[in-house]
Amino acid sequence: MNEVQRIIQERQSARVPFDANRKVSKQDLREILDAGRWAPTAHNMQNYSIIVVDDKEVLNVIGNTKSRISEEFLRENYEQLSFSKEELVKKKTGILGAMFPPAWVDPSKMAEAARKSEPMPLTQSIRGSPCLLIVVYDPQKRAPASEGDVFGFMSLGCVMENMWLMAQSLGISLQILSTFAAPVVEKQVKQVLGIPETLKIAYTCRLGYPQGSTKYLRVRREIEDFTHYNKFGNKGI
Ligand SMILES: Cc1cc2nc3c(=O)[nH]c(=O)nc-3n(C[C@H](O)[C@H](O)[C@H](O)COP(=O)(O)O)c2cc1C
Repeated sequence: MNEVQRIIQERQSARVPFDANRKVSKQDLREILDAGRWAPTAHNMQNYSIIVVDDKEVLNVIGNTKSRISEEFLRENYEQLSFSKEELVKKKTGILGAMFPPAWVDPSKMAEAARKSEPMPLTQSIRGSPCLLIVVYDPQKRAPASEGDVFGFMSLGCVMENMWLMAQSLGISLQILSTFAAPVVEKQVKQVLGIPETLKIAYTCRLGYPQGSTKYLRVRREIEDFTHYNKFGNKGI
């Protein structure tokens, strides 16, 4: 296995608390941002700005931002769940329901769970992370010939992956937090950070050094499951 293969395979979501007192060094941050900078983007538009937040006070203010879980999220989330390790291994896609509170994974209780949910502070998502990278874009600047700006969003994804692989190579854990893009959260975070009204938050990377093991059951489809050789429907390569 060469170095690129190794880092690709070792990269994973780190969903455990991070050590709040172990900062990510400026030098490592610059290397991660440099990797993002060299990502491919549609028409080389480089359609992003990144707000690096590692000031404890600012992290605390962001952490106090509150939002509630929506029934829509719970229902869409449910579609991707498996309820045992065996089921997940068989399905090869999605995530384990055990990651969520019981009421979130029971369709008969979702409406009530959402209605009764207390607003949750972002600290519960940030979980001690000493550094956030908040990736924003300008929705007015669409990539050419790109319906719904799909190429623009793909470009933001390329930036994400480049930064994630670089973080991995530096021994820094990362979790994507898409909750920052939820309208209620986005509005408050934009206010705290002075992000111009016209920009939107795409996603946030939570960086740091984990407390405890980040290992969990990760599954993928086989190459044959998604590859069609020379003609759609011809399996395998
Ligand atoms: C666009 C995007 C949004 C994601 N949002 C979240 C998120 O909000 N929370 C989270 O824990 N993981 C999030 N993830 C990570 C995926 O759940 C994860 O990559 C997938 O389950 C595969 O697991 P792995 O990263 O450990 O390989 C996101 C990934 C992408 C590409």
